[in-house]
Amino acid sequence: MPGTKLSILFVCLGNICRSPLAESVFRHLVRQRGLEDRFEIDSAGTSGYHVGDPPDARSVATASLRGIEVAGVSRQLVAEDLRRFDYVIAMDRENLEQTRRLQKRTNGSARIHLLREWDPEGTDSDVPDPYYGGPRGFDDVHDIVERSCEALLDDLHSELDRS
Ligand code: 4NP
Repeated sequence: MPGTKLSILFVCLGNICRSPLAESVFRHLVRQRGLEDRFEIDSAGTSGYHVGDPPDARSVATASLRGIEVAGVSRQLVAEDLRRFDYVIAMDRENLEQTRRLQKRTNGSARIHLLREWDPEGTDSDVPDPYYGGPRGFDDVHDIVERSCEALLDDLHSELDRS
């Protein structure tokens, strides 16, 4: 149907490092393809550790060097997200399990996946948690997120074209 929209929520633990980055990278790619009005994009954390905090400065700095702005405020994943979003994309298996557990307690129909299911160079299923590491970790995370989001968007763009 013309004008059909897809909504997508990226999920990590704290919603300050990986998922805000994935949200920003995906939004950037969507904009590059002129598809802004076909997607709703957001991110959340399975924990409440950083609710209300801005994105981690290291995520912001790494992305900024690549021309991508990472902004927003951390929020916790809620049951309603599993009803509201078409796709919930988890950064690692731990957060995938947490998300699935929450979905079992709701009647949410969101399709839940790991981001690295789309990683063309995928050797691991997890986007590694960079929080306790150095800046190199953030570079690696950015590379993984960028190439996985490209492939994810290819798939979702095709889904939109078919709808
Ligand atoms: P994120 O990274 O899940 O990618 O946002 C983390 C942020 C905070 C913590 C762990 C990971 N923490 O333990 O506070």
